[in-house]
Amino acid sequence: MKRKAMWLLLMLMLLTVFGPAQAQADVVYESDMILVNKVYGLPWDYEPSDLTEANVAFAEGVVQSRKLMRADAALALEDMFEAALEDGIELLGVSGYRSYYTQKTIYERRLEEMGEKHVSRYNAKPGHSEHQTGLAMDVGCPGYTDLTERFAKTDAYKWLRENAHLYGFIIRYTKDGEEETGYAFEPWHVRYVGDEATAIWESGLTMEAYVERKLRIASGTDRLPRLYERDE
Ligand code: DAL
Ligand code: ZN
Repeated sequence: MKRKAMWLLLMLMLLTVFGPAQAQADVVYESDMILVNKVYGLPWDYEPSDLTEANVAFAEGVVQSRKLMRADAALALEDMFEAALEDGIELLGVSGYRSYYTQKTIYERRLEEMGEKHVSRYNAKPGHSEHQTGLAMDVGCPGYTDLTERFAKTDAYKWLRENAHLYGFIIRYTKDGEEETGYAFEPWHVRYVGDEATAIWESGLTMEAYVERKLRIASGTDRLPRLYERDE
């Protein structure tokens, strides 16, 4: 546990010292716990090395490139969808991996359609979307695949909220977390974090606050890199 925390600290220091664009080792970006947010981004040319199609049910019209996730995340998603189905819950994938340029297209289109204020709460700038890590999937259920807050009223969301952590996922953008994550509540966006999902879920913290707490404990200091935008 301690070694893992130190590794994470090293990873963040690398990013802080050299900047994401210069940090060459893809391994830095391929940790299950990689923190991607408004402060920490990915280089434009980063593409995960092990993208694979998740073998789950998708909403109608989802193109093959959006069905991709990193290998472990895809397997975990398959386990989670299967377990949900056993509990009578039908989940549908909507949007997984997105390249830097796909995100750029989405961001620019939404900016034109919705304006800056809305976009800053719902759409990451290119290089700053978790979808580029291959560890995120937007999820819906029949009748609720439009990625809007009404998904939060469904049994599918309630099931995810209670069970996603058992499969290595967290609901990344929570209702109370907006100030730390920088994004509005997105009940549909699940993020694979692997082994630490249950600890994050139990902590009730955002990923930003959880990682910060971990770094503080591992380093024994409050002098940490800035993990998210906030009023000091
Ligand atoms: N909707 C999330 C924040 C993204 O664009 O990655
Ligand atoms: Zn998403």
